[in-house]
Amino acid sequence: MEWTSDQDRIDWDVLSELYRIAPLGDKKPEDLKRAFANSMYKCFAFEEGTLASAGRAVADGVDCSYICDIAVHPRFQGRGLGKEIATRLRDLSRGHRKIILYANPGTEPFYEKLGFRPMLTAMAIFSNEDAAIKRGLIAPSTDRGDRQRH
Ligand SMILES: CC(C)(COP(=O)(O)OP(=O)(O)OC[C@H]1O[C@@H](n2cnc3c(N)ncnc32)[C@H](O)[C@@H]1OP(=O)(O)O)[C@@H](O)C(=O)NCCC(=O)NCCS
Repeated sequence: MEWTSDQDRIDWDVLSELYRIAPLGDKKPEDLKRAFANSMYKCFAFEEGTLASAGRAVADGVDCSYICDIAVHPRFQGRGLGKEIATRLRDLSRGHRKIILYANPGTEPFYEKLGFRPMLTAMAIFSNEDAAIKRGLIAPSTDRGDRQRH
């Protein structure tokens, strides 16, 4: 397995396809290019020229690093690659006071093994709130006035 942080080597259509089949959702190639360019840390793994895994972290260099978009091509899943890329991004993020992520529902045990612990007060605003509720990422609002104020 060959590891690189060089995004010039990335075909963004191929990365978009990797996320689609992993599955981690539909992400447009041009959006991925921008998101990775704006991320302090990025990791890509290639096996014999095939993009096998990718992930990134948005970090400020001091306080917090947010790890996101970790995925492994289905053909390479279950071989320790997910663990390795998450470990690399965690280690690159060392020195930050907090390293955070939100797990795809069901993958919490995967991250627990790497030292991540559930956050008790995490809050988020999703652009598509209803879809995030359906995916089990956030709880519906308990604020009765919330809908009227939006
Ligand atoms: C989740 C994902 C990254 C794991 O990658 P992987 O290469 O298959 O995982 P690994 O082989 O490195 O597994 C590492 C460990 O985590 C465990 N594990 C892997 N996937 C898991 C899951 N979904 N839930 C719980 N544990 C999991 C493995 O059993 C293994 O345990 P071990 O160290 O005790 O043997 C991969 O399945 C994937 O890309 N899934 C779709 C996208 C996704 O959900 N990404 C996470 C975004 S938050």
